[in-house]
Order: sequence, then structure tokens, then C-alpha cells
Amino acid sequence: MSYEFTLIEGDGIGPEVTAATIRVLDAAGVDIQWRPVPTGAAAVESHGTPLPDETLRSVQQTRVALKGPITTPVGHGFTSVNVAIRQALDLYVSLRPVKSIPGVPTRHENVDLVVFRENTEGLYSGREHSPVDGVVETLRVITDRACRNITTWANEYVRNEGRRKLTLVHKASIMKLSDGLFLDAFHAVADNYPFVTHEARLVDDVVRGLVIDPSQYDCMVMENLYGDVLSDLCAGLVGGLGVVPGANIGDRFAVFEAVHGSAPDIAGKGIANPTALIHSGVLLLRHIGERRAAESVERALFTVLERGEVRTGDLGGTANTAQFTDAIIAELQQS
Ligand code: NAI
Repeated sequence: MSYEFTLIEGDGIGPEVTAATIRVLDAAGVDIQWRPVPTGAAAVESHGTPLPDETLRSVQQTRVALKGPITTPVGHGFTSVNVAIRQALDLYVSLRPVKSIPGVPTRHENVDLVVFRENTEGLYSGREHSPVDGVVETLRVITDRACRNITTWANEYVRNEGRRKLTLVHKASIMKLSDGLFLDAFHAVADNYPFVTHEARLVDDVVRGLVIDPSQYDCMVMENLYGDVLSDLCAGLVGGLGVVPGANIGDRFAVFEAVHGSAPDIAGKGIANPTALIHSGVLLLRHIGERRAAESVERALFTVLERGEVRTGDLGGTANTAQFTDAIIAELQQS
């Protein structure tokens, strides 16, 4: 079977890590034609906007996209191009599986968590204004529809992937109305999933607990900004931003991207770690039903990391992006 998907290379290290990921997916034998579309700082030069209509149209046509990180340029009408893409395509789930990587030493072993972050509303929408000098108001919109959508999706995932528990991360003790609405939606949806263990915990309690003993959690669902902060904390538990994959998923479209940003400090040097985006590519393959290829890529990636001979600088190695990618492809071809 052959596919055509949208490719958003992104800014900074985006072109480097997307190129690496495409090489690995190609080596896994999945026939994907990529349709590159302009987005981010580069698109401002060619199209006068960081998010041209053709970019969204392409994702709507191909339904799936691989995306590098985007830097939102100042002064072009967007608080965040990433947020705009998620909202325009109603990609209401941010899925971030966080798993210990063999051979990457961290404080905790066998970390295996999944973060589901509501992706379209909440404080992260960045709706702010200044009514008078020296005062800023930020709008935090939470809807029952969005809370039920993300919570239902999370429960389906827990059930289908054979996970054990779903924790709602909230602060309804203070945000009694908005987080209270999320809490109510969580409990209402939970009734439909009697075989999933449900619990609700305060966000401050959860972050402390994660640092001390992440094994007490399994899958966690939460509002947008809590998810932004918590998934970076979880990335720190397994080796940092260079290794954690992500997916933005809605009922019709899906965009696969790493948790990390465009890393301007190392952009263009050819030293970025492509692990996170290659792992996002694994999520993409699973999403389209190419499970065998997904497993082969994941195995090859983990084998190379575990062996430890070829690693990028952020994981204490000396390999560059291309050498690390070559090692994964060689492993794929051998197996
Ligand atoms: P960042 O994730 O780009 O960088 C943080 C640190 O992690 C830097 O030291 C960087 O070198 C390192 N790092 C990140 N990814 C790495 C990789 N694959 N390999 C090796 N080292 C890596 O976060 P920062 O600096 O806060 O953001 C930079 C830009 O990226 C900003 O414009 C931000 O808005 C954008 N951004 C975009 C995202 C997206 O497109 N989804 C997500 C997060 C940030």
C-alpha cells in the first residue's frame, strides 16, 4: 500500500530531524510520498505568513502530517503557529507516551507513562489583553465538549492499549468552575469504562509524585497548560526533550511531531538528536495500521540507543544526526 502525507519541515533543527525520520520510515519499507508545505519562518519569506492556507488544506487532503518544530515569528498575527494548526484542524488530543529508553541512564528505571493533553483550549490558547496600563487579563476557556472529547479518547486508548489506570490532573480546589467542569466530565465519561481504574489528583501533588516515584502513575489526562508543563517534566524522567515523541490527533486529521522545539542553539550544525521525531514516526505508523513496520523501527531505534556506540551529544555521545540515523537504518536492514 502506498500513502501520501503532508510534510511540514519546520524551523531550526526541523529540516534535519524530519529528513532523518523520512529516511528511517523509507528504510522500514513503508511507501510514503511526502508533500512538503511551507510553514513557519521560512513561509514568511515565500508567502508572507507563517501559516499559509495551502498548509492546512494539504493536511485536510492527506489527513496525516509529519511535522518538525516551528518558531512563531513575531508580528505576523499568530501567538503560536503550532496552537493555530491544532485549533484549525481540531486536533484535540496531544498524545505523549513517555517511556524509559534502554541504555539511557536516568534516575528512575522502567518509566512508562502516557500524557493526554487537551490541545485546543485553556490558558495555552494565549488569549490575553491589557484593559488598562499595568494590567493584563488572560482568558481561560474550558468547555464540557472539549473535556469529554479528550477524556473519552484517553479512556479508549487505555482500554485498547491494555493500560491499567487513568488519572485526571486538575486544580479544582482553586479553579472550582473550570477545572470543576473537567472533573465532572471526567467522572461522567468514566462511568462508560468500568474496567479502567480512574482517579483524580491535584496537579501539584502529581508533579511531586512524578519526581519521587513515577511508577504510581500510568496514563494521565489534563488541561492544555498543565499538559505542556507536565510532559516536559516527564521528558526529563527519561532522558530529555530529544527523546520524547508526540502526536496531535483529532477525529479526522493527525499531525505527528516531537515534544521539543526548534532548538535554535544547535540548528544547522547537524548534531540534533532525531530520536523524538523518529519515535513520532513510529506513532504515525501505528496510527495508519502499519504495526509491523512501527515495531521494526522502534526496535531498531532502541537497539542502537541501548548499544550506546552511536549516540548524539545530548545523550553523551559524539555522533551527528546523519551517523545516528545511518546506524538505525543499518539495524533495520539487518533485522
Ligand atoms: P527547545 O526544545 O527548542 O530547546 C530546549 C533545549 O533542548 C535546547 O538546549 C536545545 O538545544 C535542546 N534540544 C531540543 N531538542 C533537541 C534535540 N532534538 N536534540 C538535541 N537537543 C535538543 O525549546 P526552546 O528553546 O524553548 O524553544 C525554541 C523554539 O521552538 C521557540 O521558538 C519555541 O516557540 C519553539 N517550540 C516549538 C514547538 C513545536 O513546534 N511543537 C514546541 C516547543 C517549542
